[in-house]
Amino acid sequence: MNKTYIELKNVCKRFPGVLALSNMNLQLKLGEVHGLIGENGAGKSTLIKVLTGVHSPEEGEIYVDGEKVAFKGPIAAMEKGISCIYQELNTVKELSVADNIFLGRYIKGKFNLLDYEAMNEKTKQVMQTLGQDVDPTMEVGKLGIGQQQMVEIGRALSQDAKVLIMDEPTASLSEKEVQELIKVVRNLKKKGVAILFVSHKLEEIFEICDKVTVMRDGEHIVTSQTEEMTKDSLIANMVGRTLDNLFPKEKAKSGEEILRVENFTRHGVYKDISFGVRRGEIVGFSGLVGAGRTELFNGIFGADPVDDGELYIEGKKVAIKSPKEAIRYKMAFVTEDRKGQGLILDASVKNNLVTTCFKKMKKGIFMDDNKINQVVKENIKSMRIKTASDETPVGQLSGGNQQKVVIGKWLNTDAEIYIFDEPTRGIDVGAKVEVYKLMNELVKKGKAVIMISSELPEILGMSDRVIVMRHGRITGKIDMDSKHFNQEDIMKAAWGGSIDE
Ligand SMILES: Nc1ncnc2c1ncn2[C@@H]1O[C@H](COP(=O)(O)OP(=O)(O)OP(=O)(O)O)[C@@H](O)[C@H]1O
Ligand SMILES: [Mg+2]
Repeated sequence: MNKTYIELKNVCKRFPGVLALSNMNLQLKLGEVHGLIGENGAGKSTLIKVLTGVHSPEEGEIYVDGEKVAFKGPIAAMEKGISCIYQELNTVKELSVADNIFLGRYIKGKFNLLDYEAMNEKTKQVMQTLGQDVDPTMEVGKLGIGQQQMVEIGRALSQDAKVLIMDEPTASLSEKEVQELIKVVRNLKKKGVAILFVSHKLEEIFEICDKVTVMRDGEHIVTSQTEEMTKDSLIANMVGRTLDNLFPKEKAKSGEEILRVENFTRHGVYKDISFGVRRGEIVGFSGLVGAGRTELFNGIFGADPVDDGELYIEGKKVAIKSPKEAIRYKMAFVTEDRKGQGLILDASVKNNLVTTCFKKMKKGIFMDDNKINQVVKENIKSMRIKTASDETPVGQLSGGNQQKVVIGKWLNTDAEIYIFDEPTRGIDVGAKVEVYKLMNELVKKGKAVIMISSELPEILGMSDRVIVMRHGRITGKIDMDSKHFNQEDIMKAAWGGSIDE
């Protein structure tokens, strides 16, 4: 029998207007991987923050190794061997990899000076156990999101944690990095570490978790051995109803070509990219993380320089030099990095939702408050954004609900061409369906949708056509209506080999 290391009994945590945890119970055992799932806003991250001493609960008890504790802060939790990788990146971008790993626990050598040699060496070792070959002196901000997250995992590992908590650790990782992470998790488990693993990807839960707990509205719904659950039973417990169709694809009438990209090239990043998108079409951009898709669309959207190539909108050649111009040409770009580009975290839900459409919200020289309130109310309702009020700062929403605000913001523009970059990252199954339905609505209105996604099921489930990229090149173009289509073609094009149009 594995030993229970952490036990939560009847824990309650309130925020203004929200009961985030309601009589929550949980046991974590050493040498066990425990999955935690639930819809956006269910209270998963709050539960974690109670365990790591970031929040203190109003009611209930926490036991660590049989002893009742009341953490005064994260350091107290860390001293009990509890380490955490939070949902949003927590690296200090200006500092080196080694600095980030040893932040607050620097190794000192002679004369009390920082021993960089030792820290760099240790950093290298830790990162190697994660399969990452990175230069310890490299500035973290220069790494991709996936690698930055690996640095965070490295930091937790280097603390010899007894309990490692991971809040959606795989959300930004490439397939290869996910596999490496899974290996690391299995090794830690063998060493007797207790792991709490939060994810919206149910396949992952089945792959690595021994047990799984489902939460809904801050409450404990069920804990079970993973093998006793099915995907459907997990979903039903999560959403409290059954979802009959995870991909509610509705075909729209396809119209004229609205966007045409010819020979787009950025040296060393992507090369010779040509494709067109019609009104009424959802075009999926598939590929592995790092295939160059985000970079390509940053170029198309005017956010990054482009070395060569031509862009046509409604048949007219245009030169887009900045995102502002792209927006004028009726493009919208729903970014994958919500913290960096998508949202102003201190501003209210309302203000974030209308930043993209201030002009439309004016009455003479004044803002039309009634109209703003109406639009915002509609957004919150149609996407089921879980927020105490529309005045709540976005930073206080759960991760998935923040993502919904990013999407809502762009839906409020008059855009004709929508680029969604990993639109359902970090959002729960129910909300995914809402996002897909919104895409259906857009194409039904004759708009064009481009969906960049690393999730094959949603690419297959929602696209009319799929374009696959690999190492900055297009390696496949697939029409989903074609009889010859099969899923392996997409995999092959993404991983290696190429197929004809
Ligand atoms: N600091 C805070 N201030 C106010 N409300 C908060 C705060 N943190 C979380 N909440 C609220 O508590 C509830 C639970 O949020 P939590 O972040 O725990 O959800 P989650 O299960 O992690 O969701 P997701 O899957 O979207 O990450 C939400 O309604 C959220 O808005
Ligand atoms: Mg969360």
